[in-house]
Amino acid sequence: MSTLSLISIGPGDLDYMLPAAMGALRRADVIIGYQIYLDQLRKLIAPHQELISSQLGQEVQRATHAIDLASAGKTVAMVSSGDIGIYAMASPIFDVLRERDWDGAAPNVEVYPGVSAIQATAAYIGAPLGHDFCTISLSDLLTPWPVIQKRVKAAAWGDFVIGFYNPRSKKRDWQLGWAIDVLRDFRPADTPVIIARNATRPDQDIRFVTLADFDPTVVDMFTLVLVGNSQSYVLADRVATPRGYTEKGQPRETKDAVTAADNEILSYPISLTQMNGKMATVIGGGPVATRKVRGLLSVGANVMVVSPELTAGLQTLLDEGQITWLSRKYEAQDIEGATLVFAATNDRDVNRAIGETCATKHILCSVADAPGEGNFHSMAIHRSEDVVLAVGTQGSQPSKAKEVRNQLRWLLDQQ
Ligand SMILES: C[S@@+](CC[C@H](N)C(=O)[O-])C[C@H]1O[C@@H](n2cnc3c(N)ncnc32)[C@H](O)[C@@H]1O
Repeated sequence: MSTLSLISIGPGDLDYMLPAAMGALRRADVIIGYQIYLDQLRKLIAPHQELISSQLGQEVQRATHAIDLASAGKTVAMVSSGDIGIYAMASPIFDVLRERDWDGAAPNVEVYPGVSAIQATAAYIGAPLGHDFCTISLSDLLTPWPVIQKRVKAAAWGDFVIGFYNPRSKKRDWQLGWAIDVLRDFRPADTPVIIARNATRPDQDIRFVTLADFDPTVVDMFTLVLVGNSQSYVLADRVATPRGYTEKGQPRETKDAVTAADNEILSYPISLTQMNGKMATVIGGGPVATRKVRGLLSVGANVMVVSPELTAGLQTLLDEGQITWLSRKYEAQDIEGATLVFAATNDRDVNRAIGETCATKHILCSVADAPGEGNFHSMAIHRSEDVVLAVGTQGSQPSKAKEVRNQLRWLLDQQ
């Protein structure tokens, strides 16, 4: 019977090729595949077997040729790396069979599974695929980029562990960075990202970094990038993903979580409007202070910043005349006349003192690093034309609020 065997050869080292696939390879009269795969298989190939080396990118011609040979009575083996059914030759073979109204029998087609790059990588590094995962190819050669974008966002939103195949090439050098930026909006900064180059091959290089530190430019087409979910963790030199979630549906506690007592603060969210002419004082000149200043300016407040230094963003606002600046450390009289105050310095004692002074003077105050010491806190905001979305966690976990805000923003974008 004429047979076409679709044979997975594994990610590199032939120890990762399954015995069933090896048996099918031995039975073949003709073996078709890229030259590098034929070279890899050399010790398994007998002298009587005919070898046909194919060119990169000619998938349909290769599939047609293999089917023609098998239909003419040969036992043909088509070989592909990893698993032949995953971003490989099995699909083009079935596409051509479909065009020919294949009857399921002539030729006989058998598919031999194998170890895909994601499995070899996962096994080497520990157990990162312990919970729901997906693979996404970032190649837009055959898939429109908007479709890939939608899948990345959906996988990010669904908290799937994600294996990125075909992650980055010389011509396609920014897509991986885009995908990682999406994931940074959804997952903790310390989420492990595994960079696996040439898994199981002689020059294998598999390591991991945090999502915050990941640099897409180190990645090429011989690499698989595996991003953990919100629960994935590092243990010694390994990465694992738990079978479940620590608290049902909740990401693990993030680094900015504060004490249980703080979580018990009751709150009643309100929206600040019409601050025109009202004085708001922001103490601190860093990134947190900058965000607060921008929010206050958007509702018309007169903003005064007290800090020895300013971020570039605050400096620009100062240059544009949008804020006033007291260029020194905080002093108690700085809050006189303020309607509300943000304590956003990087000094715990100063922030506490600001909260206490505001309390005695009945001035509304938000203490960035200890929400319980003030009487309001801001929320993670998203504004669109007709919706303002505000997500809060009683001030205790700003990054979690941001994460939920991003997920809701994504849902709104889908409408
Ligand atoms: C066209 S896909 C083929 C996937 C293959 N069928 C599999 O199951 O692994 C090629 C991509 O797979 C990944 N890949 C394949 N073999 C790899 C290996 N040994 N190490 C790391 N990544 C690999 C890379 O992302 C590469 O760009």
